[in-house]
Amino acid sequence: MITLKTDKEIEKMRISGKVNGSILFELKDIIKPGVSTKDIEAYVEKRIRAEGMTPTFLGYNGYPASACVSVNDEIVHGIPDEGRILDEGDIVSVDIGITHAGWVSDAARTYPVGRVSDTAAGIIAVCRESFFAGLAHCRVGERLSDISHAVQETVEAAGFSVVRDYVGHGIGSRMHEDPQIRNYGVAGKGPRLLSGMAFAIEPMINEGTYETKVLADNWTAVTADGKLSAHYENTVIITGGEPEVITLDERDDRGGR
Ligand code: MF3
Ligand code: CO
Repeated sequence: MITLKTDKEIEKMRISGKVNGSILFELKDIIKPGVSTKDIEAYVEKRIRAEGMTPTFLGYNGYPASACVSVNDEIVHGIPDEGRILDEGDIVSVDIGITHAGWVSDAARTYPVGRVSDTAAGIIAVCRESFFAGLAHCRVGERLSDISHAVQETVEAAGFSVVRDYVGHGIGSRMHEDPQIRNYGVAGKGPRLLSGMAFAIEPMINEGTYETKVLADNWTAVTADGKLSAHYENTVIITGGEPEVITLDERDDRGGR
């Protein structure tokens, strides 16, 4: 069942989302060669707590940290580690969930560490672009798979692949609600979109094969071929028929709606 959020609930999600987007923006200045993945998570945790909010991921199904930090071939759910030091040329994905007054926002970005290869810069840019291609279909009158199809077209046209094993999701008082939102598929299928629906739209895309593996820590998802992966996610609420991205900082180059 896809729940429709009330105006009061949407307002709480917006407050969470604004902090989430701001932290993700601030990380651009934190992430540089020599920083550990634990340093990144410590910054995120401190910022969430300073706002009086709660890191949604900490303890979720036993996840041991307040943010997921995934490097290079790691797709999602990387566990922060003080021994994992970022090097020039790496790419790193940071995923943040924040609960405010019982309402959740979920968002992620992939960052370059110093100067990166053209391929690394390309996969980051295409992942972000594919989110916005999907977002254009996140409106009343469209169906759920119109979002999925638009993401896939954008990613594959650029020569990258779409991860199948992990998907986006409805979001609200729980981080994971119905429906599941694939980043691939034919258009025109699934539920019709309505005002009050809230989604975490999150393309995860790979340089090579879309196949994945999970490491021995039972969390970290990696590409099966060891090539690069990128992740870009925002929480989006359909308000007045249109998509409102609640986790995009206004200082980002495509702020607001
Ligand atoms: N943002 C992730 C998602 O959308 C959740 C992180 S998994 C957790 O599914 F266990 F760390 F919470
Ligand atoms: Co998510």
